[in-house]
Formats: sequence, structure tokens, C-alpha cells
Amino acid sequence: MTRISLLARTGLHDLPIPQVLDRTLSRAERGVYEQLPSEPRKEEWFAGRLAAKATLRRALAHPAAGWPLSEVEVLPDASGAPVARLFGVQGPAISISHTGRYAVAAVAPLGYVGVDIEEVQPRTPAILRHIATDAEQHVIPMLAGGGDAGATALWALKEATLKALGCGLHEPASTVVVSVEGRLTVRIDGPLGADAHVLQSWLHHLEDHVIACVVLARVPAAAAVA
Ligand SMILES: CC(C)(COP(=O)(O)OP(=O)(O)OC[C@H]1O[C@@H](n2cnc3c(N)ncnc32)[C@H](O)[C@@H]1OP(=O)(O)O)[C@@H](O)C(=O)NCCC(=O)NCCS
Repeated sequence: MTRISLLARTGLHDLPIPQVLDRTLSRAERGVYEQLPSEPRKEEWFAGRLAAKATLRRALAHPAAGWPLSEVEVLPDASGAPVARLFGVQGPAISISHTGRYAVAAVAPLGYVGVDIEEVQPRTPAILRHIATDAEQHVIPMLAGGGDAGATALWALKEATLKALGCGLHEPASTVVVSVEGRLTVRIDGPLGADAHVLQSWLHHLEDHVIACVVLARVPAAAAVA
């Protein structure tokens, strides 16, 4: 089962004291943290790690098992995507997102996962044209109550999918096609869509934020035929 944890960053806007860092981060994570360029970046990165580690513990063990947080390691790969390791063993797929108010993490036992949290913001017609095809402009009213929240939800679904693909915004938003045909449907277009299939897509509207989560499978085209 896919698990998502939302962490309110209230009280997490100061840098953690060294004792908290020692209890929470592995040595390798501490190395990444120390290299981050600014205090705000350290704060959001740390909040993301807390959300990720809490989600991994919930997904993989009874919370009372009390694994030390520092043994649940979430390090960036070469592209910046988070990779989980538990006691040194590769863990399940994980994704992280943050805004000024929240950090969110998603863990999927199967396949690849992407999560995105966005603050609802007005989008100019030019931005809307950039993020949504003509067909998707008609979908916006059906997402998260429509209007600015709907446009934000559309963007969050696309970014979550691009994160699950591991490419982030290196790929254009048009790679991900969102439609509502009775139910929310997310599809991957172009060459990436040849072997990537969306298994689950999920949208949640939380006051002035929208959270999207997408789980996908990568099946090489040859294997799919066999
Ligand atoms: C990865 C990306 C989608 C993140 O989006 P964002 O709205 O800035 O930030 P979010 O809070 O939603 O997500 C950030 C998290 O995404 C994760 N992430 C980073 N690169 C990732 C990738 N290639 N694939 C999946 N997840 C990635 C990280 O966990 C990161 O948080 P952390 O570094 O604190 O652990 C985006 O920054 C990106 O694609 N960057 C690379 C391309 C780029 O810079 N393009 C320029 C703009 S067009």
C-alpha cells in the first residue's frame, strides 16, 4: 500500500540543534546536509527527511519497532531524486516535496512513486497555456474544485508524475497527459510512455495546498508483449 505523510513545518523553521541532527541523520546524510548552500535550504531538506523517514517507518514496520531514524537513510541520487536505504539495504521507492508550510513524503512498495505539494496560486493565461494543453484546460474545472486550485492540481499531478519517472522538470509538462473520463486518468506520452504505465494517481486538496501522488510501473516494451 502506498503511504503518504504530511508534516507541518510549524516549529521546523529553525535549524535543528546538533544533537537532533545526530539522532536523526546518518553520517552520509549529515555530509549532504552540511553541504547545502543556505539555512532555508537546510530547513526544508531536513523537514523532507523527517517526513520521508516517518513514512518509511510506517510503511515497513510497526511504529513501535522504534528503528533509529539514523538507520533509515534517504540520500539523493545523481539527479537529486531520493533513494531509501534501511540498515544499508535498498528500500522501497520514495518521493519528497516541500512548501514553506509543509513537507510531504510518499513511499510505494511496488514501482516508482512521485509526490508533489503545491500552494494554490493564481496562474496567468500564459502560464496556463504552458502547463495545460487545450484538452487539459477543460479538465481544470474538474480538479480540486477548479479555478486556481484546479490549475495547481493539474500542475501537481504533472510534477508528481515527472518525479516518479525520475526526470523532474527536465521533461516538458506535456509529457504527462491528465484527463477525467469518469475518473482521474494520468498518462505518459512520447518515448517515456512506451515503458511507463501509471498504476495509481491521487489528488488531495488541503485548504490552500494541493497534494498529488502518482505510482507507476516501468515495463520494457518487449517484456510487455511477451
Ligand atoms: C525535481 C523538481 C521537479 C522538484 O520540484 P520543486 O517544485 O522545485 O520542489 P519539490 O519540493 O516539489 O521537490 C523537491 C524534491 O524533489 C526530489 N527530487 C529532486 N530531483 C528529483 C528527480 N530527478 N526525480 C525525482 N525527485 C527528485 C528531492 O527529494 C527534492 O527534495 P530534497 O532535495 O529536499 O530531498 C524540480 O526541481 C526539477 O525538475 N529540477 C531539475 C530540473 C530543473 O532544474 N529545471 C529547471 C526548471 S525548468
